[in-house]
Amino acid sequence: MKSTVQREQDISIFNTFIHPQAATKVLQVLESGRLSEGEVVKQFEHELELIGLKSPVTVNSGSAALQLALMQAGIGAGDEVICPAQTFVATGLAVLMQGAQPVFCDIQLDTGNLDPADLDARFTPRTKAVIPVHWAGYPCDIDEINEACRARNVIVIEDAAHALGASYKNQMIGSLSDFACFSFQAIKHVTTGDGGAVTCQSAETRKQLKSRRWFGIDRDSAEPSELGERVYNIDRLGFKFHLNDYAAALGIANLIGFRERLLQRSRVAALYREELGKLGGIRLFRSDSDRQSAHWIFGLHVERRNDFVRALKERKVIASVVHQRIDRNSIFGGLRDLPNQVQFDQSQIHLPIHDAIDLEEAAYIVECIKSGW
Ligand SMILES: Cc1ncc(COP(=O)(O)O)c(C=O)c1O
Repeated sequence: MKSTVQREQDISIFNTFIHPQAATKVLQVLESGRLSEGEVVKQFEHELELIGLKSPVTVNSGSAALQLALMQAGIGAGDEVICPAQTFVATGLAVLMQGAQPVFCDIQLDTGNLDPADLDARFTPRTKAVIPVHWAGYPCDIDEINEACRARNVIVIEDAAHALGASYKNQMIGSLSDFACFSFQAIKHVTTGDGGAVTCQSAETRKQLKSRRWFGIDRDSAEPSELGERVYNIDRLGFKFHLNDYAAALGIANLIGFRERLLQRSRVAALYREELGKLGGIRLFRSDSDRQSAHWIFGLHVERRNDFVRALKERKVIASVVHQRIDRNSIFGGLRDLPNQVQFDQSQIHLPIHDAIDLEEAAYIVECIKSGW
């Protein structure tokens, strides 16, 4: 690369955003002595509703969110769940945890998202759910997916781990399908350290999700008796998946200024698209005007990928494939015949677009790429 500006530190592919008010808010919970799930979790869930999530139920990870949604959907042994292989292993593992089988569907080459055109062929009489993953925060073709599933009485559980704040046809991701599952892990848009949330479509489903996240006990109505223990009768399986108040306090702090931070990511994405779109050796992912990405990472296809990664690394910019198809893990039974996935894997790469990237850093990254690889 010809660019001469020298940097001391790498520009990492991910970062962890912690709001300046986080320490105070978490300390307040620690000093209260009430660490477990309580009022602060309720407040965090309320704030998630304010950013457009429908009936959110928080849990202690995105993986837990997926498993809880699958359990609530009644997915069990012998069932099939269609999902893309372009995701993190958590998506497929949650299906296996329920005793069901993941059925891998091909993706769109220019988004990394589940391809509705390949979906029809994947349904069998055993299909009970589809898990579309909003890869890198870019919304899937939700209308087409929901329509195909509705016609077959199949449940849609969006894996929105990368997509907090994304929208589709002016509706927030987390309001559109039967369930949507978010992650608040350390490198996500909003972190609680680890954490997650499931959204759903009715007050009754929300109530059931809340009970299932805590042993199957309805915490809101199971008051302690005179003898000290809560009065309840468990009639269904439940997990210990609840979020704690000190984690929720971190989440509340990290939601401050969330929209502005999303806007900043959009500005960086616009700069990347403008500057890199016409560059030889690069093919940008799609960006349709009917949806707004959460821009967790910025994906593109590039020729001679190893040279590209190496050249950027020399200039202290970290590019990454992030995750590669999960069906390659033997637990999922080995590689399936997914032609677009094969092509995607040959040239996909992602650039940093997180909260620590301002327009100046983005311009530096562009300059590094333009100087060649
Ligand atoms: C697509 C996807 N789904 C689910 C998860 C699981 O989230 P968590 O790490 O919060 O369990 C991740 C984690 O990064 C992910 O990338």
